[in-house]
Amino acid sequence: MLAKVTSCALQGLDGVIIEVEVDASRGMPSLIIVGLPDAAVKESSERVRSALKNSGLVFPGKRITINLAPADIRKEGPAYDLPIAVGVLIASEQAWPQAVESAMFVGELSLDGSVRHVNGILPLAATAREHALKRMFVPAEDAPEAALIEGLEVIPVETMAQLALHLQGLKEIAPYVPAPLSEDQPLPPYAADFAEIKGQEHVKRALEVAASGGHNVIMVGPPGSGKTLLARSAPSILPALTVEESLEVTKIYSVAGLLPSDTPLIRRRPFRAPHHTISQAGLVGGGHWPRPGEISLAHRGVLFLDELPEFGARTLEVMRQPLEDRKVVISRSTGTLTFPSNFILLAAMNPCPCGYYGDPVHVCTCSNTMISRYQKRISGPLLDRIDIHVEVPRVDYDKLTDNRLGEPSAVVRARVERARAMQRRRFAGTGLACNADMGPTEVRQICQLDETGRGLVRAAMQQLQMSARAFHRILKLARTIADLAGSDRIETAHLAEAIQYRPRRMV
Ligand SMILES: Nc1ncnc2c1ncn2[C@@H]1O[C@H](COP(=O)(O)OP(=O)(O)OP(=O)(O)O)[C@@H](O)[C@H]1O
Ligand SMILES: [Mg+2]
Repeated sequence: MLAKVTSCALQGLDGVIIEVEVDASRGMPSLIIVGLPDAAVKESSERVRSALKNSGLVFPGKRITINLAPADIRKEGPAYDLPIAVGVLIASEQAWPQAVESAMFVGELSLDGSVRHVNGILPLAATAREHALKRMFVPAEDAPEAALIEGLEVIPVETMAQLALHLQGLKEIAPYVPAPLSEDQPLPPYAADFAEIKGQEHVKRALEVAASGGHNVIMVGPPGSGKTLLARSAPSILPALTVEESLEVTKIYSVAGLLPSDTPLIRRRPFRAPHHTISQAGLVGGGHWPRPGEISLAHRGVLFLDELPEFGARTLEVMRQPLEDRKVVISRSTGTLTFPSNFILLAAMNPCPCGYYGDPVHVCTCSNTMISRYQKRISGPLLDRIDIHVEVPRVDYDKLTDNRLGEPSAVVRARVERARAMQRRRFAGTGLACNADMGPTEVRQICQLDETGRGLVRAAMQQLQMSARAFHRILKLARTIADLAGSDRIETAHLAEAIQYRPRRMV
C-alpha cells in the first residue's frame, strides 16, 4: 500500500512542503530512501526501524521505498524520522490514511521510540498555516513554539507508541493549549544601566541617537574608559520589539537551534557580542547545514564588535554587503538562501596599539606609522557605513567618585520609544522600521533641507571629502536627531550634530 504523509523542509527561514511517500510491496525485505536525502536522512531508516520495534509496533518485512518529494530540494537533518515512521505504519496497515489528512509531521526519533526536539519548528509551523493545514504533530517539548502560530492545532508527541495509539483512534493525544501570552509578563532586568556610568554624556547621547534611528556606532578611546561598559548597557535603551519583529527574531533563533525551551517567544532585542576569533561563516552564516550567523542572530538588535581591529580584515569585509542590504545571501551548490540581518553595528576600539593616542595624561608610545597601520585595519568602505563616530575619553577622578547617579536607562528608553513612534507613523505600510532603513527615494522625499542646511552640508562634504553614501547617511542621521527633538523639520542644529558624528581618520 502507498502512504503519503506531509512534512516540511527549511530553506533559510522559509519552509517548503515535502510529501513523504512510503510504498511497501512484496519482495526481499529492504528499505531505500530517494529524493535528495543527506546522510542524516538516510540514517533515518535505522532509527525508524528500532523506534517502531521498541514501541511494540511492527516494522514490515517488505520491500520499502521512501520518496521525499519534490526531489530537487535537499532534505537535511533528522526531522523526517516522524513522517517516515508514520508513513511506514500506514503502508503496513497499522494506521489509516484518514488519520494524517491535513496534518504536518516533524520530529526526530530516538531508538527507544521517544520523539526528540528539532530546530526550526516556528517557521515550519508558519508554513503549515500558510498551506491551510489543520494540525501539526511536533515533539512535545517543541509544542509551545509551534503554538505561537495562531489557527493551527498543535499535537505534542512524546513517543512513537503514543502517536500510534492516536492515529489508530485508540487513545487521543490532547492538543497543546498554550499558556496565555501576556505582554505584561515581567522580563528580567537589564545587565547594566546608564545611571551607573559616570560622565561620558556625549557617548550616551550618541547611543541614544543610534538606538532611535538604527544607526551604526564606533567608540574610540583609551583602555578602561568605559567603552565595553557603555556597549553592554546599550540593550537597556533599545525600544521594545513589535509583535511581528518578535516572531521574526524568534524564527531565526529557532532555525539556529538557540531558542531557550522555557521561553518560546523572544521579546527583547538581541545583543550579540562575538569574540574576535570568530570565523567568516560564524559571522555571516553558512556551513554544511546553513545556519544564520551572528549578523542574523543580531537581527532587529545590536551586533557589538569589541576590539574591532582584532577582527580579521577579511572577516570584517564580508559584512559590507549585509550592512547595506540588511540581509545576507548564502550561496550553496543547490541554490541560494537568504537570512535577514538588519542590525545596529556597535564597535569599540583603542585609537592605537598602546591604546593611549590622544590621551592627555598617559603618553602614547606608538609611532605615527604604527597608529595609521592600526587604524587602517578597519577599511574605508566599512568605516563609511558607520554613521556615528564618538570618542570615549578617560573619566577623571572627580566624576568617577561622584555618588550621584546619572539619568536612568528607562528615561532614555522612553525618548527612544517616542522617536521610534514618529518613525513608525512615517513609514506605515512601507515595510521600513526606522530612519536607517531609508533608501535614496525616501531620503529625497523625507529628508528635505532648507537653504542654510544645504549650505552646511555642501561645506561639510568638501571639507570631510564625503562619499555619496556618507551624504545620505548624514541626512538620515539628522532626521533621527530631529525626531528625538520632536521636530517635523530638520533644523540646522540637527544637521550640525549629525555631521560632527561623521567618522574620520585620526592620523
Ligand atoms: N564612565 C565610567 N563610569 C563608571 N565606571 C567606569 C567608567 N569607565 C570605566 N569604568 C570601570 O572600568 C571598568 C572597565 O571599563 P571598560 O571595560 O568598559 O573599558 P574599555 O574602554 O572597554 O577598555 P579597553 O579599551 O581596555 O577594552 C568597568 O567595568 C567599570 O568598572
Ligand atoms: Mg573594552
